[in-house]
Amino acid sequence: MQSRINHLAIIMDGNGRWAQRQGLPRLKGHEMGARAAKRIVEDAKARSIKYLTLYAFSSENWNRPREEVEGLFSLMERFIAEEVDRLRQSGICIHVIGDLSRFSLRLQDTIRRTLDETKDNTDLHLAIALNYGGRDEIVRAVKGLMQNGVSPDDVTEQSFSTRLDTSFMPDPDLLVRTGGEWRISNFLLWQLAYTELYFTPTLWPDFDSATLDEAIAWFGSRQRRFGMTGEQVGGGRP
Ligand code: FPP
Repeated sequence: MQSRINHLAIIMDGNGRWAQRQGLPRLKGHEMGARAAKRIVEDAKARSIKYLTLYAFSSENWNRPREEVEGLFSLMERFIAEEVDRLRQSGICIHVIGDLSRFSLRLQDTIRRTLDETKDNTDLHLAIALNYGGRDEIVRAVKGLMQNGVSPDDVTEQSFSTRLDTSFMPDPDLLVRTGGEWRISNFLLWQLAYTELYFTPTLWPDFDSATLDEAIAWFGSRQRRFGMTGEQVGGGRP
């Protein structure tokens, strides 16, 4: 299924519950979640989506049990190490958003080298949100403006956007959250202003091309008005 979606953002929720339902440790759920992430990258590319942002680790996830945090990191390191060649060959450019300064120097180095290897690709931009929090991102952007002595008169929505981690991407057209929760959880707070929000009870490890197509079909039925009236945007709805 082709889509009108340029930027798809996903909150990949439900790994823990998926594992618990099968009587497996939570980390097994994250491992299956990483597999689902690999699939969705291919599926997004096949549907001509140009930007895909995945919420992999929030700035609040540090509060989870230590073994789970460590397990998630080794999974992500493995994902990056194992996938980089394939992603590079399939035209995917990898980006990371979030505050990387809290990671080990080894992980920061792996991430930098990985990003560098794929930087010339343009088929799909994959942004992985790591130690990411929307409020933290906004605070870092404000600090950047102040540290550079930018005058208040020069602060506009547009100039502010260029200070955000996502400055290289358009705002998401569609946000999908799996796992049955109806909240944003500090994800892309600025960027989601006019994004269509899709919540599904499907647990992330079960999310596949069929469930993606359901989300895309739902998006296709939405009328995006960006503050205008239905008549103005041509759909005729009130
Ligand atoms: C939320 O499920 C998921 C996470 C906190 C981690 C997401 C990470 C991955 C899918 C693996 C790595 C992915 C990439 C892109 C490298 P949860 O644990 O909160 O689930 P629960 O609500 O059922 O407990």
